[in-house]
Amino acid sequence: MNANTLPGQPHIAYQANTLCMEDVKLADVAAQYGTPVFAYSKAAMLSALAAYQRGFAGRKVQICYAMKANSNLAVLQVFAKAGCGFDIVSGGELARVLAAGGTPDKIIFSGVGKTRAEMQQALELGIGCFNVESEAELEVLNDVALKLGKKAPVSLRVNPNVDPKTHPYISTGLKGNKFGVAHESAVQTYLRAAALPGLAVVGIDCHIGSQITEATPYLDAMDRILDLVTDIEAAGVPIHHIDFGGGLGIDYNGDTPPAADTLWQQLLAKLDARGYGHRQLMIEPGRSLVGNAGVCLSEVVFMKPGEQKNFCIIDAAMNDLPRPAMYQAFHQIVPLTPRAGATTLVDVVGPVCESGDWIGRDRQLNVQAGDTLAVLSAGAYCMSMASNYNTRGRAAEVLIDGHQVHLIRHRETAADTFVGEHLVP
Ligand code: LLP
Repeated sequence: MNANTLPGQPHIAYQANTLCMEDVKLADVAAQYGTPVFAYSKAAMLSALAAYQRGFAGRKVQICYAMKANSNLAVLQVFAKAGCGFDIVSGGELARVLAAGGTPDKIIFSGVGKTRAEMQQALELGIGCFNVESEAELEVLNDVALKLGKKAPVSLRVNPNVDPKTHPYISTGLKGNKFGVAHESAVQTYLRAAALPGLAVVGIDCHIGSQITEATPYLDAMDRILDLVTDIEAAGVPIHHIDFGGGLGIDYNGDTPPAADTLWQQLLAKLDARGYGHRQLMIEPGRSLVGNAGVCLSEVVFMKPGEQKNFCIIDAAMNDLPRPAMYQAFHQIVPLTPRAGATTLVDVVGPVCESGDWIGRDRQLNVQAGDTLAVLSAGAYCMSMASNYNTRGRAAEVLIDGHQVHLIRHRETAADTFVGEHLVP
């Protein structure tokens, strides 16, 4: 590893005391496009994907990028061109995939609350699979499909009741969660699905949570799912594909998740040992493909020393970077051009009128107003969860590819933020 790279961030490095992404000085990006701005490394995204591809070499697998992590059209385009399918959760995401050049038959549609309109839109386009999450959804999907004279390809999302050992808001495979059908009743639900004339059972899926940093929860979930495949097929319903969801974590702050290829070597060894290694497989990674490919650049507006705390007020806020406020998440924050001299302890906060609007607490930084900071690991679940709170236009986004910087989303103007609104007469 280059001595000047940052832990977990192989795509960014200090060169001559200035932070670069691929071959681009990030200070130049901030100067040209303003701040806050998100910058994504194409090479980092493709190398994250390559780790999965290495892990699955020689297997029948479809990688469906969980686009909720980062749904910019250009990001989707990179993954579509690299052969990925997409895991979507709304009609809006479906429209985005199509606009980015994705193909419908490589799309899987997840989510607990698909509407009839969304089902119809997806059926008419011929998407690859509906990942169904309840009996009620099965019945409605059957009805919508019959009215269209189609058969909906379905997989049931089974809740394996495995603890992913992550933040409670992002664990999804435990009994108390709203997701999936219960493991105990899954065979019954499969028999019901197989009996409905508008449905074609094609697979089984699970997704136990996000930012998972250990292999054990995956191995446990795999065992539980394979037990079910055995039982469901014994009951007479063939399962064509097995989808193990997403969830692999990234290094935010010294986290040590397994590499995608190492994880899948372990998982495939189990699949082989249990006789399922030849099956068509699917996975739905989101964060691990984009999280550490992105940074958010933000300028220091004011330094505000205080009696109890010193604040470093930056021009990015919880509306741009919601993860700290929502999950007390940690993102590394580094200066684009480090200054010599002593650091001070500061809370890095945004301008939004909420005490919850913090980006990093108790950080040692040596910065002054006018400096630019990079908030790291900002490629996943940042821009895709951004809002216009406080009527703040959402940030610009650029995609960096070698020396090239492509503007992939312009900064929203104030007028953009109220374009859909109307005064009353
Ligand atoms: N498949 C399904 C059905 C999902 O619900 C999710 C994420 C994924 C795949 C992708 O998971 P990943 O590989 O990205 O972990 N906003 C939170 C994360 C929410 C994840 C929701 N589901 C955060 O910022 O940590």
